[in-house]
Amino acid sequence: MTALLKVEDLKVAYGKIEAVKGISFQVNEGEIVCLVGTNGAGKTTTLRTLSGLIKPKSGSITFDGKPLASVPAHKIVSLGLAHSPEGRHIFPRLTIAENLQLGAFLRTDKEGIEKDVQRAYEMFPILGERRKQAAGTLSGGEQQMLAMGRALMSQPKLLMLDEPSMGLSPLMMQKIMATIKDLKAAGMTILLVEQNAQAALSLADHAHVMEIGKVVLSGTGRDLLHNEDVRKAYLGED
Ligand SMILES: Nc1ncnc2c1ncn2[C@@H]1O[C@H](COP(=O)(O)OP(=O)(O)O)[C@@H](O)[C@H]1O
Ligand SMILES: [Mg+2]
Repeated sequence: MTALLKVEDLKVAYGKIEAVKGISFQVNEGEIVCLVGTNGAGKTTTLRTLSGLIKPKSGSITFDGKPLASVPAHKIVSLGLAHSPEGRHIFPRLTIAENLQLGAFLRTDKEGIEKDVQRAYEMFPILGERRKQAAGTLSGGEQQMLAMGRALMSQPKLLMLDEPSMGLSPLMMQKIMATIKDLKAAGMTILLVEQNAQAALSLADHAHVMEIGKVVLSGTGRDLLHNEDVRKAYLGED
């Protein structure tokens, strides 16, 4: 299997505070890899670093065979790495259609963009029905759909999702998880960050548990789902 993303001994600090303390993992083509861990573990910092929004202190990131260390954030998108951020960050005053268009800001192929907008509407019919409405009128779950749809508009090779189920009803969460499964079936490679370990681990090919900036446990999704420590710490069992 080819590694699409390889992270080696990555360290990231905010001033003197080291938020990521030397983590290594890889994402192979076509896989869902999941980072789980409690609040403050360094998951978001890791994704923001991969996106080029934060500069790492040390370590290496290789994406699609190229080192990412000195590549600026907008170039990273054009290399094929898309990020659906924690908290979604959609543009509430712009319409749903405009938000999707923004995800394609580096593309010039008008017909291809329109095709992908239609595909987003097929994946999430509610977005199509409300395409002309301000995105701020959508519910949390619908905003999550929009954030995912927008990230896909850059035609990424790797889709990074930061806490897509945060704040959603169980039903909406199921729908988002089903969509992630569908994306994988369609060939997408996904790096998924979740506090909702149960749902995420059942989807993941490989998973890593992070605690205060370190990876403390790695395995297949199934391994971790059945691991006693994980069940105690993350699945509320004792
Ligand atoms: N902008 C920031 N400035 C300083 N410290 C930060 C900043 N963002 C996150 N941190 C700290 O870095 C650590 C990791 O945070 P984060 O990556 O958001 O974790 P997670 O996504 O796993 O909850 C935490 O201790 C957090 O307080
Ligand atoms: Mg986070």
